[in-house]
Amino acid sequence: MLAKTYFGLESVLAKELQLLGARNVKTINRGVSFEGDLGFLYKANLWTRTALRILVPIANFKVRNEDELYKKVKDLDWEDYFEVNKTFVIDANVFARQFKNSLFIAQRVKDGIVDRFRDKTGRRPTVFTKDPDIRINVHISNENVTISLDSSGDSLHKRGYRSEADRAPISEVLAAGILKLTGWDGLRDFIDPMCGSGTLLIEAALMAHNIPPNIFRKNFSFKHWKGYDPELFGLLFDKALEKEKNFHFSIYGFDKEAYVLRKAEKNLRNALMHEQVETAIADFMNFRKPGSFRDTGLVVFNPPYGEKMEADIPALYKGIGDTLKREFAGFEVWVFTSSSEGLKNVGLKPSKKIQLYNGKLESWLVKYDIYKGSKKHVHKD
Ligand SMILES: C[S@@+](CC[C@H](N)C(=O)[O-])C[C@H]1O[C@@H](n2cnc3c(N)ncnc32)[C@H](O)[C@@H]1O
Repeated sequence: MLAKTYFGLESVLAKELQLLGARNVKTINRGVSFEGDLGFLYKANLWTRTALRILVPIANFKVRNEDELYKKVKDLDWEDYFEVNKTFVIDANVFARQFKNSLFIAQRVKDGIVDRFRDKTGRRPTVFTKDPDIRINVHISNENVTISLDSSGDSLHKRGYRSEADRAPISEVLAAGILKLTGWDGLRDFIDPMCGSGTLLIEAALMAHNIPPNIFRKNFSFKHWKGYDPELFGLLFDKALEKEKNFHFSIYGFDKEAYVLRKAEKNLRNALMHEQVETAIADFMNFRKPGSFRDTGLVVFNPPYGEKMEADIPALYKGIGDTLKREFAGFEVWVFTSSSEGLKNVGLKPSKKIQLYNGKLESWLVKYDIYKGSKKHVHKD
C-alpha cells in the first residue's frame, strides 16, 4: 500500500505506520509504502494523523501509448472491485514525456473501466467528480503504470470536525505533522497564542487523548468496495474508542479576534474537545501569562505570514519575539510560517529550522528555546 503525505512529513508518517503495525515500511518522496492486511487498511485510515490518502495498488504494467493503456485497463477485473451502480472518478498523476495530458489519460482509463463493465454486465458505472463512491488512482512514470484503488476517497485532512474556517487555516494533516515534529507527547501544557480556527489545538487535544483523527469522518472509499467488511470496521472503530487516554495537563488557545475565536470554539465542540481546551481573547503583543500557567510548556503557533497585505510583518514578528522573551522563559516554542522576512525580526536564535510547505508556499517550522536569561536582552536591545 502507499500512504501519501506532504513534503517533509514522510518520516513522521513512516513512524506512525510502524507504530500501528505496518510491515516493510519505506519512505518515498511525499509518501510511504508499506504492507498490511484489510484490517490494517481500515486502521490506517482511522488512525494515521499525517496521511492524506492511502492507495492500494491493484495492477502494474508497461504501456507505450494511450491505446495500450486503454486495453490493459479494460483487461482488469473491475467487476470484482466494485458494483456497477457505484459512482467513480479517476485521479491521474503523469510523469512521462510520451503522455502529456493527464486529463486525456484519466479519460482513457475511464473508457477502459466503463467498457469492461458494459461488456460484462450490459450496464456502466457513472463518473462523478464530486463525492464519488470510488476513487481510482493512475500513476504513470515513463512507461510504468500503476493502477490503485484509493481507500480514503476524500483527502484524510477532511477529518469531519472543521465546519468553520478563517482566512488562513492550515491543513489538519499539516497541523498534525507539525505537532509530531515538535515532539508533542501530551505530557505538558500546550499553548497556541494565535489559534485562528483552532486546527493546532484540536489536533493537539486529539493526540493528547489518543483519539483517532478520523473518528468523526462519515465516509471512506473502502466502504464502497465489493469486499468491504463492515463488522471488521465496526470492531476496529469500537476498539479505537476504548483507547482514549486521560490527559493531565492543560491546552490553551488565544486569538486577538473574537469572531475567529468563536470559530475555534465551534470546531472544538464538533471534535468534542471543547471541555479539554481553554480559549480566551488576547493580543500577543501585550500578552501577560495568566497566573494559572505552569512554568514550562510547549508553545506552537502559525502567525500571519503576510497573506493579508495590510499586516506589518516585521513589527508583528518583533512583537512576537519580545513577548516570548518577556513571558515564556522556560518554554519550548515553535513558530510555523512562510514569512522569511518575519523570521528575521523575531530577535531570538533558532535552535532548529525544518523546511515544509503550506500549500505551494515554502515554509519553516522554527524552534526557539527561551531561557530565563533571554529576558535581559529585551532591555539591552
Ligand atoms: C495564520 S492564522 C492561524 C491559523 C490557525 N493555525 C488555523 O489553523 O486556523 C493567524 C491568526 O493569528 C491571529 N493574530 C494576528 N495577530 C495577533 C496578535 N497580535 N495576537 C493574537 N492573535 C493574533 C489572527 O487573528 C489569525 O487568526
